[in-house]
Amino acid sequence: MQKGDEIVITQMEHHSNIVPWQMIAEERDLIVKFIPVLKNGELDLNQLNNLLTSKTKLVAVTHVSNSLGTINPIKEIIGKAHQKGAVVLIDAAQSLQHFKLNVQELDCDFLVFSGHKVFAPTGTGILFAKENLLNKMPPYMGGGDMIKTVTMEKTEYNELPHKFEAGTPNIAGGIVLGKAIEWLSQFDLKEIEEYEHELLEYATEKLKKNSGCGYLRRGKKQEQYFVFFN
Ligand SMILES: Cc1ncc(COP(=O)(O)O)c(C=O)c1O
Repeated sequence: MQKGDEIVITQMEHHSNIVPWQMIAEERDLIVKFIPVLKNGELDLNQLNNLLTSKTKLVAVTHVSNSLGTINPIKEIIGKAHQKGAVVLIDAAQSLQHFKLNVQELDCDFLVFSGHKVFAPTGTGILFAKENLLNKMPPYMGGGDMIKTVTMEKTEYNELPHKFEAGTPNIAGGIVLGKAIEWLSQFDLKEIEEYEHELLEYATEKLKKNSGCGYLRRGKKQEQYFVFFN
């Protein structure tokens, strides 16, 4: 990405899908644009056509919002971004534990997921990326198994995925992440989704009637969010 290029994200991103783009934007003089959120908690996708330009290089969007619960139509967003020649990153941190995702069908270029969202250890996770993109990208850290050969004069990088795995990896974490996913796979995600939806509808109905919500204040600081039912 070069000066003046654009990154499109949304107003409902977790800050971990905002800050890295702001950092690279500052470094390279890029522009970060936001797809707005409507009052009903959905993305204003009418704005997407205006936001996507020939300068858009990357669209990074969450599948499920951690703050609103909104499920975004990522297939549609990916299609539109690709039409403009941009690559798409999907933040699946709140989605992979709820839906079976097929990255080939979605045709996303990158997909990221945090292990601790499926009871795996913190610091573990998944980065999916299309092979051709990873082959074009340079390693971002040096050391460990990311090399094929090293001499005083020259280093030849290893093949994928080792090229991006500098240093001794978190082997124990990786094993437990695999086990956690295996464990989760025994459940019918559809059933869990239906149950969660039932809870959502129950809570929404209760909140609309005879109930309220607010902040618990200790001194001047808003410290704890609470909901009460009558
Ligand atoms: C939608 C979403 N994206 C990203 C993250 C950040 O993940 P991590 O805690 O692994 O940095 C979270 C964590 O809550 C999240 O909900």
